[in-house]
Amino acid sequence: MSFRKVQKLSETLRIIFASSEVEGFSKSGGLADVARALPLHLKSLGHDVRIVTPFYRLIPEKHKTNTVIPSMGVPMGNEEIWCAVRHKDLEGTVAGKTVSVPVYFIEHEHHFFRHGYYDDGLHAYPDNASRFGFFSKAVLQICRALDWIPDIFHSNDWHTALVPFYLKQAQLENVDFLKSSSVLTIHNAGYQGVAPGIFRHSLGIPVENFVLEMFEDHGEINLLKGGINFADQVNTVSPGYAEEMNTPLGSHGLYDTYLRKGENFSGILNGCDYDEWNPEADPHLPANFSSGDLKGKKLCKQELQRHFGFPESTSVPLIGMVSRLTTQKGFEYLMPAMPEILGKDAQVVVLGSGELWIANAFDELQQKFTKKLGWYNGYNNDLAHLIEAGSDMFLMPSLYEPCGLNQMYSLRYGTLPIVRKVGGLRDTVMQYDESTGRGSGFIFDDPTSEAVSNTVGWAVKTFNDRPQHFQQMVEIAMEQRFTWKTAAEKYVSLYRKNI
Ligand code: ADP
Ligand code: GLC
Repeated sequence: MSFRKVQKLSETLRIIFASSEVEGFSKSGGLADVARALPLHLKSLGHDVRIVTPFYRLIPEKHKTNTVIPSMGVPMGNEEIWCAVRHKDLEGTVAGKTVSVPVYFIEHEHHFFRHGYYDDGLHAYPDNASRFGFFSKAVLQICRALDWIPDIFHSNDWHTALVPFYLKQAQLENVDFLKSSSVLTIHNAGYQGVAPGIFRHSLGIPVENFVLEMFEDHGEINLLKGGINFADQVNTVSPGYAEEMNTPLGSHGLYDTYLRKGENFSGILNGCDYDEWNPEADPHLPANFSSGDLKGKKLCKQELQRHFGFPESTSVPLIGMVSRLTTQKGFEYLMPAMPEILGKDAQVVVLGSGELWIANAFDELQQKFTKKLGWYNGYNNDLAHLIEAGSDMFLMPSLYEPCGLNQMYSLRYGTLPIVRKVGGLRDTVMQYDESTGRGSGFIFDDPTSEAVSNTVGWAVKTFNDRPQHFQQMVEIAMEQRFTWKTAAEKYVSLYRKNI
């Protein structure tokens, strides 16, 4: 191996990590969890990583931040947009040690001081492309302002998909960042940031880039598509989903785009934050437990049953769900199956927020099945922990699932996942084998009401009739690990491939 190669393998990397949400500051789903855990683990591997995220309206209510750049001009199209940059360290524990990563917040009142991150509760903000295009440009501008040139610009999803494009533009103009590379991680390829072609001007996308092989998508601008085309590396959050995205059916309409990426498109399974999701020390629970001593899990189940006014019984299986209420999560075929599922000898608790039709359907069901369906419409982290801990099974019938974190939490809490065989779900859950009693969950293939209902029935029957098998599966599940250390090391290899 050449000296340079050996040197590159040991170099400390400078990584700027751009995300529209970061757990602890803003969160609507798993992207936020990743944007916290991955940078912390990269830092603990010795790299110089910094996060950039928007300064949303609620952040100053909970966090004291310092202004580090009072006024920063960001050139967008023909104008310059002025913002400020604030800073606070993100603190976390990795392998028992405190780790901190600087977070830079882009402060721009008009763009980010709104009630929602991406929508007003019903409709996406019509200027999302401008808001996040500006944010992506600001990511490069911060590096200039701090005189800190990263080796890697790591962006995430459509919101920051323009970072690789702006980087290439800067490099083509021979301005700066000539040695930097870009990695774009896709957490959800179903959301692509599609905007009317007219946005091209404010985003500074020249007409020659508004073509099929770059940004153009049925006459509109597709930010994710453009980002994929301009990024040096693209990855998604599980090998299973990467495989599906490379098929016409699983590509969310971007089959040719992924195909063109070839070797530069891969899957890295997310890790699970076992400091935050640890049944042995979880402060959100009435009692803690481990695979060797499950007494505490029974107490959590009791508490959960009490919370929803259910009869308190250890012998009735309890099925939990924590989910964004959206088509992606399989509600279109789950809802018609719910009366049959609730007809089984089981209790069901659901925590979720999102689309109105799904919330309304749960409202209606709850009126009919008061002692069997517990339903909480909203976002509640304490309850999410209690559901993971107190349920016997966890239902995730996703239509598609890039990775899925909830099934990983469930496994760690000995709550057996009932999942569809897609994306990260099939990479993390092991099918129950009736002949050996081994496995860590119950898996089905077809996205149909019949398949989900039958599989819930199978899980309930196993719980009732084969308690030794069920117990063995709980132990297997609780021992499975998907560490962020492993994932972070894979990201470092991906980065090094490009420097
Ligand atoms: P996705 O990002 O597609 O929503 P994931 O399984 O990757 O799915 O991550 C979901 C994350 O959001 C988990 O941390 C989960 O606990 C959390 N979550 C989702 N909905 C709620 C809710 N209503 N209340 C509390 N936490 C929630
Ligand atoms: C997305 C995906 C989810 C994944 C998360 C974090 O929200 O829907 O499957 O776990 O991002 O990568």
